Amino acid sequence: MKLKVGVLCGGRSGEHEVSLKSAASIIEALDKEKYEVIPIGITKEGTWLAGDDPLEALSSGKLPGNNKPVFIVPDPSVGGFMWLKEGPSGKSFEKLDVVFPVLHGTYGEDGTVQGLLELAGIPYIGPGVLGASAGMDKVIMKMVYQQNALPIGKYVYFLKKEWDENNEVWLDKIEEKLGYPCFIKPSNMGSSVGISKAKGRKELSEAVEEAGLWDRRIVVEEYIKGREIEVSVLGNDKPAASVPGEIVPSSDFYDYKAKYIDDRSQLIIPAELEPHLTAKVRDLAVKSFTALDCTGMGRIDFFVDEKEEKIIVNEINTIPGFTQVSMYPKLWEASGLSYSELLDRLIKLAIERFDEKKQLKTAFDL
Ligand SMILES: Nc1ncnc2c1ncn2[C@@H]1O[C@H](COP(=O)(O)OP(=O)(O)O)[C@@H](O)[C@H]1O
Ligand SMILES: [Mg+2]
Repeated sequence: MKLKVGVLCGGRSGEHEVSLKSAASIIEALDKEKYEVIPIGITKEGTWLAGDDPLEALSSGKLPGNNKPVFIVPDPSVGGFMWLKEGPSGKSFEKLDVVFPVLHGTYGEDGTVQGLLELAGIPYIGPGVLGASAGMDKVIMKMVYQQNALPIGKYVYFLKKEWDENNEVWLDKIEEKLGYPCFIKPSNMGSSVGISKAKGRKELSEAVEEAGLWDRRIVVEEYIKGREIEVSVLGNDKPAASVPGEIVPSSDFYDYKAKYIDDRSQLIIPAELEPHLTAKVRDLAVKSFTALDCTGMGRIDFFVDEKEEKIIVNEINTIPGFTQVSMYPKLWEASGLSYSELLDRLIKLAIERFDEKKQLKTAFDL
């Protein structure tokens, strides 16, 4: 029997298009001898579609195409999705053995979809609810890293409401603690959306207003000098780290345009780093992954200043870009694991974690 793999893609985040590209690569590479692949596309409005070729329908904008609306049922006795109207060949539901949520950013990487799959009793790739949501929120992530003595930069955070009440207080605090330039970010976002670098008080004010459009909490960070080094992590209880890679952004920093639009940012794999720094980032990558109780996969991003021998953890991405040319799978390829072997491993890890959790008690036997 082939395993039925649901591939969730598209979605309601700013990374909808990136998700479609990642999913197309994944669907193509999944071994069809082992897996029956069921693509499920989510529109930008949040309608779930399956049945024909939802990727094509979403990419072309010709919706719904020959697809039908479906929804994951929180009742674990279904263990899959239901067709809202009658599905192909009169079916009313479809069981799934495992789901790959190829959804970057909001409503995908932040624990929301993970919660739904958890209720539905379907194994899924990547971290659970806690790892996903904590990894997506920059403030919580930093607090956990601090607690675990992982190296992070200085930061200040506040609610947009607190800023609105008295922005002068926050401006003074930021200038005193962090200085310029500094980075202003919505706490819970990705893809560099809403992020700015400020060189003075006026720019800082404008940047906070911008970040406040995306989240109710804002984090301001000191500027960290250094090369951008990334490491892929794979595993559950004993995760492994890949060789590191380096991003050379095409703009002043790795903003949305440099990431997805102009195509001039470079990936250097493996990164040319001194062996002792390579060993250090790999070790820190695993620690950053486990500190947030992550499982499955994660890409940890660092700033490395070789001259000063300083390493700072910037962030974790628990559903990193996954096209054939994305950093996460490329780093595994450079570490000896091919793209399709990586998919096999991730599916196995998802099922292992699910089976392990199934053994746990959830209620007293009275
Ligand atoms: N504190 C910082 N110092 C220097 N550059 C930064 C800092 N924070 C972010 N950047 C730059 O901005 C980019 C996006 O920031 P990041 O925190 O990774 O946000 P996202 O989660 O949206 O990817 C980074 O890849 C880096 O180029
Ligand atoms: Mg980033």
